[in-house]
Amino acid sequence: MLEVKNLSTYFKQGDSTVKAVDNVSFSVAKGEILGLVGESGSGKSTIAHSILKLIPASASVSGEIIFENRNLLQLAEPELIKIRGSKISMIFQDPFTSLNPVLTIGEQIAEVLRFHQGMNRQQARDRAIELLETVRIRNSGLRVRDYPHQFSGGMQQRVMIAIALACEPEFLIADEPTTALDVTIQAEILRLIVELKEKFNLGIMYITHNFGIVKNICQRVVVLNKGRVVEEGETGQIFSNPQQAYTQRLIECLRVLTHPPTPSLSKRGGGVLSADGGELL
Ligand SMILES: Nc1ncnc2c1ncn2[C@@H]1O[C@H](COP(=O)(O)OP(=O)(O)OP(=O)(O)O)[C@@H](O)[C@H]1O
Ligand SMILES: [Mg+2]
Repeated sequence: MLEVKNLSTYFKQGDSTVKAVDNVSFSVAKGEILGLVGESGSGKSTIAHSILKLIPASASVSGEIIFENRNLLQLAEPELIKIRGSKISMIFQDPFTSLNPVLTIGEQIAEVLRFHQGMNRQQARDRAIELLETVRIRNSGLRVRDYPHQFSGGMQQRVMIAIALACEPEFLIADEPTTALDVTIQAEILRLIVELKEKFNLGIMYITHNFGIVKNICQRVVVLNKGRVVEEGETGQIFSNPQQAYTQRLIECLRVLTHPPTPSLSKRGGGVLSADGGELL
């Protein structure tokens, strides 16, 4: 449903050029979650922003992004505005800075519906309540009147997902949407994303540096290193038989995080390791 072909995005920095994305190709099918993984700075967000042309004009973007038989990179701004948020939506890492603190939750969802779908106040409000129910906010009829600070971090991220779903998009880009949340809430948000994918048959590009998340929710994975694709394949296959040392390293990080080596009692006096391998006790 979305095909990225030979995408390159370069930023100018003084006299030098940063090749943030360098000749990247992959595709995402309907009803599929594709994981885009790589270390910090590997170009994941730049790919997401390039798809929606949310890139500074000074950057150079080349290649093709095919969606519904059109190359998004060649569309004029008014056509892109119609696509952004209505056919292709994006959710970001940090819900705390994405919501407007002076507007109610209901107003923020309704704003999208009025803009993209031409709904009147009442229609938009009713639909906002329905959308809050879809993302499992209880007492949604009352909660639409709340301001963001009255919602927990996990609830704010659900609101962001409700806004992303407001116009029934076909494609969703999620850029590390659970990073700012604690582990239990992370798991709930991931479950919600998978559920919504099934309900609406969405294609999803899920960006993360966490192979644990990839293992849980992605059917296929594209591994990026320094702006290039180093490996691509079905999740199970990449996990059981990673071909590249870089991918092996990312997977190994996960093993260390989830199964920290038990220190030898005789040598270390029974130390307990924290999740990042440091000793806690
Ligand atoms: N607007 C910009 N101007 C100049 N350089 C940029 C810009 N945006 C990104 N870059 C550079 O492009 C490279 C890729 O950055 P990007 O944000 O895509 O990485 P990422 O994989 O999303 O990292 P993270 O996991 O930390 O979010 C980095 O070297 C970054 O400094
Ligand atoms: Mg990023």
